[in-house]
Amino acid sequence: MTNNLLQGKRGIITGALDENSLAWKTAIKAHEQGAKFVLTNAPIAMRMGEIKKLAEQTGSEIIPADATNMDELTNLFIKSQEVLGGKIDFVLHAIGMSTNIRKNLAYPELNYDFYNKTIDVSALSLHRMLSVAYKMDAISEWGSVVALSYIAAQRTFSFYTDMAEAKAMLESIVRSYGYHYGKYRKVRVNSVSQSPTKTTAGGGIKGFGDFYDFADLNSPLGNASADACADYCVTLFSDYTKMVTMQNLFHDGGYSYTGITDDLLKAFARE
Ligand SMILES: NC(=O)c1ccc[n+]([C@@H]2O[C@H](COP(=O)([O-])OP(=O)(O)OC[C@H]3O[C@@H](n4cnc5c(N)ncnc54)[C@H](O)[C@@H]3O)[C@@H](O)[C@H]2O)c1
Repeated sequence: MTNNLLQGKRGIITGALDENSLAWKTAIKAHEQGAKFVLTNAPIAMRMGEIKKLAEQTGSEIIPADATNMDELTNLFIKSQEVLGGKIDFVLHAIGMSTNIRKNLAYPELNYDFYNKTIDVSALSLHRMLSVAYKMDAISEWGSVVALSYIAAQRTFSFYTDMAEAKAMLESIVRSYGYHYGKYRKVRVNSVSQSPTKTTAGGGIKGFGDFYDFADLNSPLGNASADACADYCVTLFSDYTKMVTMQNLFHDGGYSYTGITDDLLKAFARE
């Protein structure tokens, strides 16, 4: 499905680690819709062989940047504008990491150094990116910034530990910067709250497989796929959603507003 929705638009896409990444799928779709963009990821996390494939496939350059480092983010926005030949029209923030989750630490046992890192990488990084762009005036009028979130920002999910706070903060930054950048340059800032998806970050959560099936049964449309998430992000980067800002948009097949489905009840039936 190509409608040239993003023809002439220049973007920055963070977080494409491998072909399962939500950012990877978004890059493919944005390319199909005519966008030009730069790919970026943390030098330490980047799997060079993998991301190079995506860069070749989409005709993109890779500019490494740790999203917790202001100098590297400044370089990212300067170089991206040079490479793409103008201001940036869209940014995808697809960055998340919790060492507490990786190490399987339960909520009452969280390590605070890891906790701080989770917040810095997964939430403050959006503030940092937007601040760098704002001060440099690097995003064009009516530009669009999308961050990926999860419903644990609103409701407790036992296994999501410190990432829940990170996502709540991420969504708050979306609102606050959405206000400030909207007043300044009519730049839109939104988050997409995505279904559980089988990616490196998602799969790192204990019991993720079971929970994925549970969410699928408890969503009238089933879990939203990574490809569907990418399509939604493309519409948010496009000019068709110009007046949408400061929102947390559920992209989850109806999960967020479902109490219980017949399918889930059947799975628990006693006979
Ligand atoms: N997979 C899911 O179930 C799911 C559901 C809802 C939201 N999300 C969110 O989607 C986003 C993308 O995750 P994903 O599921 O595609 O997994 P992923 O593991 O493919 O992507 C996470 C990315 O964050 C990058 N990253 C980590 N530390 C970084 C740093 N310091 N600087 C720059 N980049 C850094 C990683 O290198 C990786 O590319 C995350 O914010 C995640 O929380 C995922």
